Amino acid sequence: MKISTNVEEYAIEFQDLCKLFGLNDNEDMLTHEEEIEDFIVKDFFTLIRDDNKKEFNFEYKLDKSLTPLRLKSYKKRMVKNNLYRILSKEYNMSLPWGSLTGVRPSKFARDLIEYGEAKAHTVPEILSRDYFVSNQKARLTGQIIKNQKGIIRNDNLIDIYINIPICPTRCLYCSFISSELARVKNRVEEYIDCLIKEIGCVKEIIKKKAYMVRNIYIGGGTPSVLSAKELDKLLSNLNFPVNEFTVECGRPDTITPEKLDVLKKRGVTRLSINPQTFCEATLKRIGRKQKNSQVLEAYTWALERDFVVNMDIIAGLPGEKVGIFKRTVNTCLELAPHNITIHTLSIKNGALLRDNTYLVSDKDVDKMVEFAEVELAKNGYKPYYLYRQKNQLKGLENVGYYRDEHLCMFNIESMEETNTIIGIGAGAISKRVFNLENRIERLANVKFIEDYISRFDEMLEKKKEFYK
Ligand SMILES: C[S@@+](CC[C@H](N)C(=O)[O-])C[C@H]1O[C@@H](n2cnc3c(N)ncnc32)[C@H](O)[C@@H]1O
Ligand code: SF4
Repeated sequence: MKISTNVEEYAIEFQDLCKLFGLNDNEDMLTHEEEIEDFIVKDFFTLIRDDNKKEFNFEYKLDKSLTPLRLKSYKKRMVKNNLYRILSKEYNMSLPWGSLTGVRPSKFARDLIEYGEAKAHTVPEILSRDYFVSNQKARLTGQIIKNQKGIIRNDNLIDIYINIPICPTRCLYCSFISSELARVKNRVEEYIDCLIKEIGCVKEIIKKKAYMVRNIYIGGGTPSVLSAKELDKLLSNLNFPVNEFTVECGRPDTITPEKLDVLKKRGVTRLSINPQTFCEATLKRIGRKQKNSQVLEAYTWALERDFVVNMDIIAGLPGEKVGIFKRTVNTCLELAPHNITIHTLSIKNGALLRDNTYLVSDKDVDKMVEFAEVELAKNGYKPYYLYRQKNQLKGLENVGYYRDEHLCMFNIESMEETNTIIGIGAGAISKRVFNLENRIERLANVKFIEDYISRFDEMLEKKKEFYK
């Protein structure tokens, strides 16, 4: 569908909604014009479909007492609702997340509460009634908000994120910026030295701003691709008395008892060991070089050392049937890690996977995600954070679950954007949260390891300026 509007700031979200309806490649045309007079907004849409022209007009009143920022947000929500009404009726389809196109549905719901447009207990009802979110997803969002404990909105309480965009090999479905170890092996030492320098600069910022570090998260990529010696060198510089310290060891084929000993010695409390699937034929198909025995072995080593463990699973991996996915979920439940994160496959441009033959149908992926939600709940897991990515099958989402009291604060704080995060390393994003003003500023480090090393000084200056 070709879609145009006279309000530039709607263009991207219109496209996103259109894409979620699967209409991006068809020939239909939709135009939109907005007129505002005396706080009355009029939306005029024209749809040309199979040479037939249809017009749709909507009118609504703006609340004069809203702040300019909230007014802008309200107008955007309303116009997306109008677009959703048209597309849903004309193409006879509904979407699990209704008219919501954003990455953070639970943050969206939190904002409704914060601005008095909903109460915690009315979130599900308002999401379904006003934004066409399915009952199931609206209920899930309500549960997530309820299960999120420990949020402290304090501008001085911060998290540190360190990015290691290196992997042993590249999985076919992945679109994260991450280099294969073989390609960057001779730059790893320099990279770690730069990270240590950046940590030094961050320590000065922390001192100057009187920040307190609550959580550290080392992600990627695959941080555990570093050797025990390299990990030790890096982590010896992170001597903050934190509440939670996570290192993603996603690929079990990179984990050794020696590396886990180093992580333990340096205060790490939580790891990710990611099966993605327990079907070895799928692992082969997606180019993920790991064996189930390696997951089990690494998990045993982690439990022996008393780490909190998360396992990532993906619903909708190429060629998987619902039964195979169910077996993966059941195996994971038998292992009973402290956290399980259920992702829905997203295929973005950066991925190597180009063959659509093995793609799982929308109906099947729906069944998979629903099965996981029901089984995890039966086994005492509670959903506690949620995010969406572009191009996820059926416009679905990723959900993190915890058992007992083992929720990951960093995941909540980064998804809900409640706290400042200082990002370190290639591709890391820093966010400065100003809670009182309800404002967030962002700063991205350069994406690739080679550029990070060559443009290091320039980048560090930007960082100092950002936290001035
Ligand atoms: C940043 S990745 C890093 C994790 C680690 N390198 C690994 O592969 O185990 C975090 C998680 O995102 C999920 N993920 C990566 N690519 C995805 C995709 N195309 N669609 C859905 N989930 C994806 C996987 O579950 C992965 O464990
Ligand atoms: S899924 Fe993980 S291991 Fe695989 S390429 Fe992406 S970041 Fe690396």
